[in-house]
Amino acid sequence: MRTIIEPFRIKMTEALPITTPQQREEKLAAAQHNVFLLNAQDITIDMLTDSGTGAMSAKQWGALMVGDESYAGSTSWQHFEQTVRDITGFTHIFPTHQGRAAERILASTRLKAGDIVPNNSHFDTTRANIEYTGAKAEDLLTSEGEDLYSMHRFKGNIDLEKLERIITENKGRIPFAMITVTNNSGGGQPVSMSNMKAMKALLTKYNIPMVIDCCRFAENAYFIKEYEPGYQDKSLMDIAREMFALADAATMSAKKDGLANIGGFFACHNEQWAEDFRNLLILTEGFPTYGGLAGRDLEVIAVGLREALEYDYQRYRHATVEYMATRLSEQKIPIVLPAGGHAVFLDAAGFCPHLSAADYPGIGVVNSLYLEGGIRSVELGSVMFGRVDAKGNETPAPRELVRLAFPRRVYTQSHFDYVIEVLTQVWQQREQIPPHRITKQAPFLRHFTAHFAPMAQSKAQKKAV
Ligand code: F0G
Repeated sequence: MRTIIEPFRIKMTEALPITTPQQREEKLAAAQHNVFLLNAQDITIDMLTDSGTGAMSAKQWGALMVGDESYAGSTSWQHFEQTVRDITGFTHIFPTHQGRAAERILASTRLKAGDIVPNNSHFDTTRANIEYTGAKAEDLLTSEGEDLYSMHRFKGNIDLEKLERIITENKGRIPFAMITVTNNSGGGQPVSMSNMKAMKALLTKYNIPMVIDCCRFAENAYFIKEYEPGYQDKSLMDIAREMFALADAATMSAKKDGLANIGGFFACHNEQWAEDFRNLLILTEGFPTYGGLAGRDLEVIAVGLREALEYDYQRYRHATVEYMATRLSEQKIPIVLPAGGHAVFLDAAGFCPHLSAADYPGIGVVNSLYLEGGIRSVELGSVMFGRVDAKGNETPAPRELVRLAFPRRVYTQSHFDYVIEVLTQVWQQREQIPPHRITKQAPFLRHFTAHFAPMAQSKAQKKAV
C-alpha cells in the first residue's frame, strides 16, 4: 500500500482549542508577541517542541498503574534498568529527571575550566552545562551539515578532520567527545553508523571516551536502516545496539525517544565515572534507583523505549515529517532539506528577504503562523542565538530558522494538512510579515521571556519585496 497510516487508533481524545483571528490577535498582544508567553488553551496546534509532548500508548498507561513507588530497589527500577541495558549494553545506569540533569552531573563530575568538549552540534542545555564548568563546547559539523540545502543524507555527521585537529592541538584537555543523534540543533539531521565508527576509531587512538547524546536514537536508527548501505535487513534494535556498543557513555532525555512525558538517564561502563555520578545524583536528584522520577515514570519509559524502536511507528513518524516537507518544498517554501527526524525547519531569512537579521525574521514568521492559524512554533535564530555585548550591540546568529516540531503520536494527517494550509497562506502574504523589536529582555536565555513589538514596515522594505 502507498498510504502509510498512523499505526494506532485513538481511544481517548483531547479537545483542541479553536480560536478566532481576533482572539489570537488579543492573546498574542497580551503575551507581548512572544509565543512562549501564550497559554496552552489559546493554541490549536502546538509544535513548540517534541519534548515530553507525546501521547502514551495503552501499554504505557497500563504500566503506569503498576508503578512501584518503593524508595529503593523498586520493581519499576528493575524494569527500567533491564530495558536500558538490553538496548544500550551499558554496565551502569542512572535515571535522572530529564536529559539536562544527566548532562549537568556528567559535566560537573568530569570537566574543569579550560577543557574542551567536541560534538557534531551541542544542544543548548548541553552547551550551557559544559560552559558552566568553565569548559568550552565546540561544534564540528561537516560542510554539508552546515549547508541548509545540501541533500547529503547524513548531515548530522561530525567532521573527522576538524575533530582530529582539535584533539592534536589540545592534548590532555578533552575529557570526552560527544555525538548527538539525531542532531537537533542542525535540523534533526542523522549521523551515519560509519561516521560514528570512524569517530570511535579516532578517539580510541587518542584515548578519549565517546559519549552519545542519544535523545533521538531510535529516529537515527531508522535513518540508518533506510539510507545507509548494509543496514536494510537489520532491525532498529540491532542498529541501536551496534551504535551504543561504540560508546563509553550516553546521556538521554526520555521525553523524546523514551515516548514519556518526563525522564532521562545517564549510562556508562567506567567504574570511576559511575561512582562520581552516583554521589552527585544522590545529592541533587535522588537515590540511584529512582533518580528524581516516580516509579510509574520508570515503568512508562521502559515500555516507551521499546515502542520507539518499532519499525511501523518510525516509518509512520518519518512519513509525517517527509509529507509536510514535500508539500512545502513543492511550493518553494524555503526549508532545511532533507527533512529531519522530528521537525521541519523553515529558513526565515529566505522566507522574509525584506527583513534583516536585526528585524528578527524568525519571530515574524512564528507570530504570523500563530495569528493565521493558532499554530505555535519556535524561533531558532538571532533572538535565541544572537550575542549581545556589554554595550547592547548584537551579533546576529549564523542562521534564522523556525522549528515546527512534531509531538509523537499526537496529531493526525488532517492536522498536518491544516498546518500546510496555514503555512501556505502565510507564505503567500509573506511581504506583510513585519519587523520586530525587543522591548524587554533578560541577560541570558532571553527568548523565553523577551517582550517584542511588531513595527510598521518602511517603504524601502516594502519595495524590496
Ligand atoms: N539533548 C538534545 C539533543 C535535546 O534536544 C534536548 C532537549 C536535550 C539534550 C535536553 O533534554 O529537555 O530532557 O532536559 N530538547 C528539547 C527540544 C527541549 O525542544 O528540542 P531535556
